[in-house]
Amino acid sequence: MADKTAQLRLDDQTIELPIVVGSEGERAVDITSLRSKTGYITMDPGYANTGSCTSRITFVDGENGVLHYRGIPIDDLADKGSFLETAYLLIYGKLPNKDQFNYFTESISRHTMLHEDFKAFYGALPKDAHPMAACSAVVGALATFYPDSLDPRDPRQVEISVHRLLAKLPTIAAYAYKHSIGQPFMYPDNRLDYVGNFLHLMFATPCEDFEVDPVVKKAIDLLLILHADHEQNCSASTVRLVGSSHVNLFAAIAAGINALWGSRHGGANQEVIEMLAAIRDEGLTASEFVERAKSSDDTSRLMGFGHRVYKNFDPRMTIIKKACFDVLEKLGVQNKLVEIAVELEEIALKDDYFVERKLYPNVDFYSGVIYNAIGTPMNMFTAMFAIGRLPGWIAQWVEMHQDKHKIYRPRQIYVGETGRRYVDIAERD
Ligand code: CMC
Repeated sequence: MADKTAQLRLDDQTIELPIVVGSEGERAVDITSLRSKTGYITMDPGYANTGSCTSRITFVDGENGVLHYRGIPIDDLADKGSFLETAYLLIYGKLPNKDQFNYFTESISRHTMLHEDFKAFYGALPKDAHPMAACSAVVGALATFYPDSLDPRDPRQVEISVHRLLAKLPTIAAYAYKHSIGQPFMYPDNRLDYVGNFLHLMFATPCEDFEVDPVVKKAIDLLLILHADHEQNCSASTVRLVGSSHVNLFAAIAAGINALWGSRHGGANQEVIEMLAAIRDEGLTASEFVERAKSSDDTSRLMGFGHRVYKNFDPRMTIIKKACFDVLEKLGVQNKLVEIAVELEEIALKDDYFVERKLYPNVDFYSGVIYNAIGTPMNMFTAMFAIGRLPGWIAQWVEMHQDKHKIYRPRQIYVGETGRRYVDIAERD
C-alpha cells in the first residue's frame, strides 16, 4: 500500500482517492468511498478493470506471461514440485516441511472414500450426464453428509472440509465416468499417491490388475499443478462471491465447478478437442477453420485461443505444449489432432485478426491433446481441470474469510422503463 492518492473531478467537486500498490507494483485506485462522497458508481461490465480484493495467493502479469503461486514461479513448481505440495502451498501459504506434508497427505488419503449412499445418487443420474453436472451435484450434496463441518468461521471444521474435498473430488469425478460406461465403482487404493489413485479409480476394474503408467501419472500431476490457481478468474470469483454470503465450503465449490464448466472458461478444453476432431472429420483445412473463427457474427471461436489477462503468451501453455510432445513420444502415440493443432497455432499466430486482438494459445489448447492421448474421454477433460483448480478455489475462499470482507454485491445502472402503473388485465393491449 502507498500513501499516494488520485484526484477525481466530478461536477463541481474534487475528491481524493487512495492508490493501492501491490507487492509486484500493480496499482489500483480505491473507489470505496466514491458513492458516499459523490453519488456516482463506476461501470465496468465484465470487471476487466476492477480489483475485487487484494490477495496473497497468485500473481499474474499478463503482459509478460508471468505466473507465480505464493511468489514461486510456475516453471519452478512444474519442474520440481508435486500437485499436493502445490495444493498445500496455495492453501497454507508456504511449501510444507516433511512433517506437515506427511500429515497433509495421510489425512487426504484417509478421506478418499465416498459414502456408500452416493452409489444410489449416481444411479439416479442418466448415463450420459455430463461429469461436471455430476461433480457439482455430488460436491453440493457433501454438505448433507457432513453437517458437522459447515461453519466457515470454525478453523477445525474448515480444515476437515478442505481435506475431505481434496480427497473426494477425484473419486467423485471418476465415479461420474464409471457410471457413464456402466462399470463398477472402484474403491480408492490408499497405497497409491494422489494421481495414481485417480488413475486407478478411472481405469481399473475389479477383474484385472491395474498398473499406473508413470509417464501418464507424471503428465497428469503436471497438468494439475498448472491448473491449480489463476487468481480472480470467473470460477474463483464465483467461489468468493458465493462464499461471501458465509455459505459452507461445499456449496461455494459446487458453484465454482459450475462456473468452470462454461466453454469460455474450463469447458474450452473439451471444445478444443471437439474442434480439432470436427476439422479432421469434415476434411477442413486449418486455414479454412481460422477464417471461420474470425466471423464477425462471433458464432465460432478458435477454442483454446485468447485470454482476458494474457496478452503476450500463456506460460502454462508453453509448459503444456512441451509436455504434450513428450507424452506423445513416450507413449508412441501418432495423433492427427496434434498435427491440426500445430497448424492452427502457426496460422493464427501470423494472422492479423489474432495479432491485433492479442489472441494467443491458452492453457486449454494442448491439454486436451494429452488427456486424449492417455485415453481420457472428452467429457472428463473439464472435470480434470476442476480437480486441478480445487486448491486454488479453496485458497481463495479461505483467504476471503481470513481477510475482512463484505458480502459481494455489485450495483447497476437501471436503464428500464420508468413511471408505469399497474393496469388491469382487461385493459391491457
Ligand atoms: N477466436 C476468435 N476470436 C476471438 C477469440 C477466439 N478464441 N477470443 C476472442 N476473440 C475476439 C472477440 O470476438 C473480440 O473481437 P471483437 O473485438 O472484434 O469483437 C475480441 O477478440 C475480444 O474478445 P472478448 O471476448 O471481448 O475478450 P475477453 O478477454 O473478454 O475473453 C476469452 C477472453 C478467453 C473468453 C476469449 O478469448 C475466448 O472466448 N476464447 C476462446 C475460449 C477459451 O479458449 N477459453 C479458455 C480461456 S483460458 C482457461 C480458462 O480461463 O479457463
